[in-house]
Amino acid sequence: MTSLTLSLPCRLAAVSADNARLLKRGERLLEPDVYLTCLDNVPTVMKDYSRYRRTPLAPLARLLVRREARTLRRLRGWAHAPMLLGIVGGLALAMEFVPGEPLGSQARVDEDTFRRLRGAVVHLHANGITHNDLHPANIMVDGERVVLLDFTASLRLPRWMRNAPLLRELRRGDLANALKIEQRLTGRAPGGYTSSVLADPRWVTAVRGGWKRLYRYLKRA
Ligand SMILES: Nc1ncnc2c1ncn2[C@@H]1O[C@H](COP(=O)(O)OP(=O)(O)O)[C@@H](O)[C@H]1O
Ligand SMILES: [Mg+2]
Repeated sequence: MTSLTLSLPCRLAAVSADNARLLKRGERLLEPDVYLTCLDNVPTVMKDYSRYRRTPLAPLARLLVRREARTLRRLRGWAHAPMLLGIVGGLALAMEFVPGEPLGSQARVDEDTFRRLRGAVVHLHANGITHNDLHPANIMVDGERVVLLDFTASLRLPRWMRNAPLLRELRRGDLANALKIEQRLTGRAPGGYTSSVLADPRWVTAVRGGWKRLYRYLKRA
């Protein structure tokens, strides 16, 4: 990854709290501050973990930045993800600002938006990537453009592992989240296909049940 500090040293010097607008303050553990700023007169979103600098969690924060950057780099040129601009100082990710509003904040969401969302999820999966954190705040709607944000939890596995049960379950989870959002916003009852995607496969129910029993047993012990 080319660091922005190498390619745009003077412009980065202009990035400061003075010319930034906070989009989301990181409050929970390993949550970044997300703010909108201007790089070279281009609106830019910074996902910034620098409050962890010189703390024991700094390596983890750097890893999160690198992982998200790697995914965005793979998706470069795809209209449904923000364009990666680079990594700043190891602990902040700079990316294209997507104007628009989070899904669901519009008075009415049209069918085409849901169709684009489903299409984006399917395309992502076809490229071997699962998002793993699809919810309305991580989906931006800018007119006809639907953009998936927040690839912190995304996963990409090599081609030979793509049919592994866990990966299939993660893909189903993404699709189920997209369909749940659609259902909630439209108030539509789930059809046959939706119900089948939303239903946990038997092995997931079994693993979850087993885990609960083990957990109760350990608590009693
Ligand atoms: N590229 C972007 N363009 C516009 N808004 C963004 C962008 N990235 C993040 N945001 C806004 O900031 C919020 C938090 O960013 P996100 O990447 O989801 O961080 P977190 O991991 O803390 O949830 C998003 O819900 C969205 O409102
Ligand atoms: Mg988010």
